[in-house]
Amino acid sequence: MESFVMAANGVKIPQLGFGVYKIKQGKNGAFEQTIREAIKVGYRHFDTARIYGNEEALGQAIANSGVSREDFFLTSKVWTTDLGYEETHQAFRESCKRMKTTYLDMYLIHFAAPLYVEAWKALEQLYEEGKIKVIGVANFGPEHFEHLKKYAKIQPMINQVETHPLFQQKSLREYMSRHQILHEAWGPLGQGNASLFDNEELNIIARRHNKTVGKSFCAGI
Ligand SMILES: NC(=O)c1ccc[n+]([C@@H]2O[C@H](COP(=O)([O-])OP(=O)(O)OC[C@H]3O[C@@H](n4cnc5c(N)ncnc54)[C@H](OP(=O)(O)O)[C@@H]3O)[C@@H](O)[C@H]2O)c1
Repeated sequence: MESFVMAANGVKIPQLGFGVYKIKQGKNGAFEQTIREAIKVGYRHFDTARIYGNEEALGQAIANSGVSREDFFLTSKVWTTDLGYEETHQAFRESCKRMKTTYLDMYLIHFAAPLYVEAWKALEQLYEEGKIKVIGVANFGPEHFEHLKKYAKIQPMINQVETHPLFQQKSLREYMSRHQILHEAWGPLGQGNASLFDNEELNIIARRHNKTVGKSFCAGI
C-alpha cells in the first residue's frame, strides 16, 4: 500500500488501487461498507468511471471516512458518449459534483472513440487549471498515441489497459515505456477467470512465497 509510481510530471500515484467497477451503489450500505473496509486496510487510491454508475456512492464514502480528501488518490473516466471539448468539460464537472470534490487526482479517456482528440484538449486545459493532477487514457494502442501526438501539447501520462500474467501486453508496454507513459493494469486478477487461479506455474510461484495466486499478484510477485 505504501509503494508509489511516479507520473512524468512527478505526481506520485499509489501503486495498488481499489477498482469499484462491479460494486453497485444502493440503499443497503454495502458499497459504503466495502469502501470503509478498503480504507481501513490502507487503500487510498480508488478507481471509478462515469459509466460504473457509482461515483456518487464513492464520493459519499470518502466524505464520511474521516480521512482528508488530500490523502486520497481518486480516478474517474470520461465515457465515450461524453467525448468532445465542451462535452468532456461538462462530464468532468458532473463527475466532480457526484464525487463531492473540486479536483480529481487522475482523469482518463475511457476508450479511443470518436472525438477523443477534442476530449484530450479539454483534459489538457483542466490539467493546466490544476483541476486534474494526472491526465491519461485507457484502452489505447500505439496507433491512438501516434494520432494524438499530432494535436497534443501534453502527452498522456498513463494508459490503463487489461493486463494480467496471461495477457502481459508486452509490445504495448515496450511502446509505453519508450514514451514515458505509465502502464496501469485493469483486470489484474483476470476478472476472476479460473484459468489464471488454477494455472500450474502461477501456483508453483505463489506456493514458493507462501501465498495464494491472488495474493501474490497484490504483493507484486
Ligand atoms: N478502463 C477500463 O476499461 C476498465 C475495464 C475493467 C476494469 N477496470 C478497472 O479495473 C478494476 C479491476 O478490474 P476487474 O474488477 O474487472 O477485474 P479483476 O480485479 O481482475 O477481478 C475481479 C474479480 O476477481 C475475483 N477474485 C478476486 N480475488 C480472487 C481470488 N483470490 N480468487 C478468485 N477470484 C478472485 C473477484 O471475485 P468476487 O467477485 O467473487 O470477489 C472478481 O470477480 C475495476 O474495478 C475497474 O476499476 C477498468
